[in-house]
Amino acid sequence: MLATNNTRISFIGLTIVGVTVLHYLTLAEMRYEHTFLRLLYYVPLVFAGLWYGIRGALAVCGTVIALYTPYMLIQWHGFSTEDFDRLMEGVLFVGIAILLGILMDREKRHTEALMESRNLAAVGRAVNEIAHDMKSPLMAIGGFMRQVARQIPSDDPNRKKLNIAIRETARLEDMVKGMLEFSRSVRLSKSPVDINELVMDLAKLLSRNGAQSNVQLVPEIDPDLPMIMGDRDKIQRVLMNIITNAIQASPEGQKVRILTEASADGIAIKVVDYGAGIKDDHKESVFHPFFTTKKSGTGLGLGVAKKITEAHGGRIYFYPNQGQPGVTFVVELPVDFPRDQKGAGHGRT
Ligand SMILES: Nc1ncnc2c1ncn2[C@@H]1O[C@H](COP(=O)(O)OP(=O)(O)O)[C@@H](O)[C@H]1O
Ligand SMILES: [Mg+2]
Repeated sequence: MLATNNTRISFIGLTIVGVTVLHYLTLAEMRYEHTFLRLLYYVPLVFAGLWYGIRGALAVCGTVIALYTPYMLIQWHGFSTEDFDRLMEGVLFVGIAILLGILMDREKRHTEALMESRNLAAVGRAVNEIAHDMKSPLMAIGGFMRQVARQIPSDDPNRKKLNIAIRETARLEDMVKGMLEFSRSVRLSKSPVDINELVMDLAKLLSRNGAQSNVQLVPEIDPDLPMIMGDRDKIQRVLMNIITNAIQASPEGQKVRILTEASADGIAIKVVDYGAGIKDDHKESVFHPFFTTKKSGTGLGLGVAKKITEAHGGRIYFYPNQGQPGVTFVVELPVDFPRDQKGAGHGRT
């Protein structure tokens, strides 16, 4: 990759230098040759635009102008028709560079978005197949182990080992549930939702988790928040996932604030924690399925939250807190979500 990059830059650089040297060495009277040489400047421009987008095209444009301008000044005849033509050619050159760069950048963004959604769909299908195949054997193992546990006396030396096996199997069952939830298409059943009420209920419900790690949940609700159309259970899942993450990231004795705000075209829910924050290296990955930095994490919480939020026509993102540790996760939801929004499905449900 690096080698290809170096080859490309060398090709562009050598073409520009080569054409410029020929300009300086060719007699000024040989007009046709000069016109031809000027046209040759388009070769590095087109390739730079193709390979490096707007940045490449502008870099070539700047270099060509810097190298060619002294020659043009030497040959300046005080604004003759020829000078004017060359100036116009220069303007055209810059215009084409900008246009080409913008078009190539747009094309690249489209291709990347398409690739990402295709990759995500493929991951989703694979996860769905695996989770389906794991579900039944795991349920059988868990069920039989619980049966055996009930039959052996509590002072049996094997009891402790059996309890560990039951606990770990339950964790695997949870993981499979998460995988199925992630890979399933999001089907929303729409009804009016009072987000303030949901936040208050969740704060109460999750306070127990917070209390275990001595983290206090503080709801700060906007009394003028409009009701929204959405799927209450699914929105609850989104908030549970981000609040749980916030609690897990918080040091003991800290608080996690949950704010609701009305926005121009809907509402926003913000979950603010004062924990360690998210490293720059992880910024791109936290929403990807199976990305986790926790010993017993599944890495599916934010992936599921993103899918549900987007199925509602909303968006989810985070930013580091200003001047304080920790991050703020924001879930924006429109008052009513688009009718054709169904969410991406990946496989068997
Ligand atoms: N509030 C937060 N503070 C710091 N890191 C976070 C926060 N929320 C999410 N993360 C990071 O994003 C990762 C993925 O989160 P998630 O998808 O919920 O999976 P999990 O919680 O199972 O690890 C976490 O492992 C953690 O590294
Ligand atoms: Mg999580």
